[in-house]
Amino acid sequence: MSANREHFSSRLGFILAAAGSAVGIGNLVGFPVSATKNGGGAFLLVYALFVAFICLPVMMAEMAMGRKAQQDPYGAYKTLSGNDKKWSFAGMLAVLTPFMIAVFYMVITVWIFGYLAQTAMGNLDALADPNHFGQFINQSSVFWYMLLVGGIVNLILVGGVKQGIEKAAKFLMPALFVLLIGLVAYVLTLDNAMAGVRYYVIPDFSKMNASVLNGALSQAFFSLSLGMGILMTYASYISKKEDIVGGAKMVAVTDSLVAFIAGLMVLPAIFSFNPATNPDELSESSVSMIFVYLPKILLAIQSDIGYTGASIVAFVFFLLVFFAAITSLVSIIEVPTAALIEEKKVSRKTALMILAGSTGALTVLCTMSFGMVDWLTQFMSYGGAPKSLFDLVYDVFYDTILPLNGLMVCLFVIYRWKKIKLSDELSQGCDGYKGSFTEKYVNFSLSTFIPVILLIIFVNTVATKFFAVSLFGF
Ligand code: PHE
Repeated sequence: MSANREHFSSRLGFILAAAGSAVGIGNLVGFPVSATKNGGGAFLLVYALFVAFICLPVMMAEMAMGRKAQQDPYGAYKTLSGNDKKWSFAGMLAVLTPFMIAVFYMVITVWIFGYLAQTAMGNLDALADPNHFGQFINQSSVFWYMLLVGGIVNLILVGGVKQGIEKAAKFLMPALFVLLIGLVAYVLTLDNAMAGVRYYVIPDFSKMNASVLNGALSQAFFSLSLGMGILMTYASYISKKEDIVGGAKMVAVTDSLVAFIAGLMVLPAIFSFNPATNPDELSESSVSMIFVYLPKILLAIQSDIGYTGASIVAFVFFLLVFFAAITSLVSIIEVPTAALIEEKKVSRKTALMILAGSTGALTVLCTMSFGMVDWLTQFMSYGGAPKSLFDLVYDVFYDTILPLNGLMVCLFVIYRWKKIKLSDELSQGCDGYKGSFTEKYVNFSLSTFIPVILLIIFVNTVATKFFAVSLFGF
C-alpha cells in the first residue's frame, strides 16, 4: 500500500501543512488573552515549557506511528498492534474525534467567514453593535456561508495530498505570516500600544495555580493539534528519508511563535482602545472576543484612519483568522477522509461526499442549537447546567476526549508498540537520534509522567464537566 501512497513533495510541504493545522483560531485570540489574564510572561514561560517537555514527545509519538504504518489512524493502531482487537477502540476514537471536532470548528469558521464577508461589504459598523452577533448566528444567511466554506474545504481536499493540502498550505501559511506581521506593525503604532505589550509579557507568578496550569496545558495540547489523529495522518504522507524529529520541533516552534506574535497584535489593540482595561475582565472565550469585543475595537480605529481604513484593517484581521481556520479544518477532515479511503476502499471523491453529507448535517444541527431550534438549544442537562448540542460536542470531544486520545498514544507506543520500535522509526531520517538526549527524554517522559498528567486531566475533566465535582481542586 505504501508504494503508491501519495506523499508530500518535501519536508517543507509537510511542515507547512502540519503548522497550518496547528495554527488556528485558538492561536490568534484565545492564546494572547488567556496569557494576559493568567500571569503574562509567567504564563508564556509555563506554556513554552509544556510545549517542549510534554507536547513535543506526544507529537513525535503520533508522527512516528503514522509514518511507520503509512496508514490512517485506525489502520495505524490496527497494523502496529498486530491486529490486536483491544486497540481498535483507540483507533476508532482517533478517527471519530476529528470528525466531531470538525463539526464544532466548522460552525465557528462559518461565522468568521460571515464576518469577513460583511466587512468586505462595508458593514463594520453593524458588526460592532453588541447585539449583532446574537442576531447574526440565528440568521438564515449562515447556511449560505456554510455552503461556501464547505465548498472551499472540499475543493482543497479533493486535490489530494500534493495538489490539495500541500498547495493550499504553501499559499495560505506565508500569506498568514504577512497579514499577521502587517497587522502587528500597524497596531504597534497606536497610542498606548505599549501598555498592552507590558501586560502581555511582564510576568506575574502570583496568578499561577493548578487551574491555570491545567488551562495552559490543555491549550498547548489543542493548539498543537494533538490527540486528533491529524499528525498521524499527515506523517503517513512523508517518506522514511525525512526527519520527523526536526519536523515536529519546527511545527511546535512555528505554532508557538504565531501564538506569541498574535499577542503583539491583540493586546496593543485592546489597550489603545481603552488604556484602563482591566485584563481580569476580558472574556476568556475566543468566540466573544472575536465576534463581540474586537469588532468594537476595530471600528474605533476609524478615528485614526477613517471608516474605510478601519474596514480594511478589520477585513485583514478576519482574513487572517479565516486562513488559519481553513488550514486547520482541512487537516481535521483529512483524517476521516483517509480512514474512509483506506478502510472502506472508496475513492477520495466518494469519501469527501460522504463526509460532506454527514459532517454537513451535524454542522447544520449544531448551527441551529443557538436558539433557532428549541430542542437543539436545550439538548441536555449535565454538570448542573442546560447544554446545547454544540456545547455537548465541544465538552465531550474537545475538552474530554482529546487528553484521553493523547493518553492512549503514550500507552500504545510505549507498552504495545514498544520503545525500541518508536526509536527506530524516529531515527529514520534523523541520524543522531539514537543515544541522544532527545531519545532518552522522549522514552522516559512518555513512559512515566506524561500519561499520568493526561490521565489526571481526563479524570478531572469528566468529574467537573459532567458531575460538577472537582476532584483535584482545579
Ligand atoms: N490547532 C488548532 C487551533 O488552534 C486546533 C485545531 C486543529 C482545530 C485542527 C481543529 C482542527 O485552532
